[in-house]
Amino acid sequence: MDKPNKRILSGVQPSGDLHLGNYLGAIKNFVSLQQEYECFFCVVDLHAITVWQDPNVLANKTREVTAAFIASGIDPKKNNIFVQSQVPQHAQLAWIFNCVARMGWLNRMTQFKDKAGKNSENVSVGLFSYPTLMAADILIYLATHVPVGDDQKQHLELTRDIAQKFNNDFNTDLFPIPEPLIFGEATRVMSLRDGSKKMSKSDPSDYSRIMLTDSAENIIQKIKKAKTDAEPLPENKNNLDGRPEAENLISIFASLQNSSFEKVISEYAGKDFATFKKDLADLSVSKLEPITTEMNRLMNDISYIDSILNTGKEKAISVAEPVLQKTKQIIGFLSK
Ligand code: TYM
Repeated sequence: MDKPNKRILSGVQPSGDLHLGNYLGAIKNFVSLQQEYECFFCVVDLHAITVWQDPNVLANKTREVTAAFIASGIDPKKNNIFVQSQVPQHAQLAWIFNCVARMGWLNRMTQFKDKAGKNSENVSVGLFSYPTLMAADILIYLATHVPVGDDQKQHLELTRDIAQKFNNDFNTDLFPIPEPLIFGEATRVMSLRDGSKKMSKSDPSDYSRIMLTDSAENIIQKIKKAKTDAEPLPENKNNLDGRPEAENLISIFASLQNSSFEKVISEYAGKDFATFKKDLADLSVSKLEPITTEMNRLMNDISYIDSILNTGKEKAISVAEPVLQKTKQIIGFLSK
């Protein structure tokens, strides 16, 4: 069993169409990391079913996330792209981690509180224990680094706690303590309708988010309608206090342009939002349209997508299985 020092794992749920937050906060960063790291990119369908998923569309959504990875620039020959439910070692390690993690740790997870809301008696047990599966996704590959958007930070802290507790309890150094990679100008993309809310798949308003499946026309409409305020763009970042919508659009611009927040502000200082939005719409279309077109092309070639996932599965299992066996041996389970 090799102990890598630069291995990435990250996951994306196939629970709906991907949006600009998923792209700028995660997938775009995966693309930039693939040269430097050995990468495992996982479509996390086991996580998706923690809330209801229509069985008639789930398989297609799983392929669509795969298509989005490839269309965004992840090289499927160089990286391992695979589906979580096809690698049973994830769920097996997750059970073990359910017995390592403490109730108090999971009770502190803000994402669970947000998702369960007032309905916490009626949500699935899976939604509660979701972060232990996420820890298993990462640690079954002994991954050292995990690129994610800002909203996953707390789950990664839990992953580190689980790795540490397992290592301490069993007096081993099996699991690395993985580092989050949260970087870029758009680590937390906000709703286009309300700058205090995260852009998310579950927002009831379609106008709150730009999808990777949106047409150019849709993108332009959504940016045009995006909430702003009456002020022009400020001279510097400090003048953005209390203007979350403005800050969000500037971050999106900077990230799409591979530029910096400061640079965008200096370019647009004093200009009105109508001008800025027009440029943002042009920039968004020029960056996203090629991805959407390529996703559509790939989705017409399902056998190609499935062949990538099949190769990814084989490789993933070949790395995950020895780690699972070692874990079981450490715990004292009867070996095969
Ligand atoms: P998911 O599917 O909700 O989101 C996938 C990735 O997109 C990022 N993201 C955002 N980034 C910036 N702004 C936003 N508004 C925004 N919304 C989503 C997420 O941070 C994530 O990186 N639990 C994870 C999936 C997962 C995972 C893992 C991630 C399962 N196992 C192991 C890393 C490692 C999730 O639900 O992501």
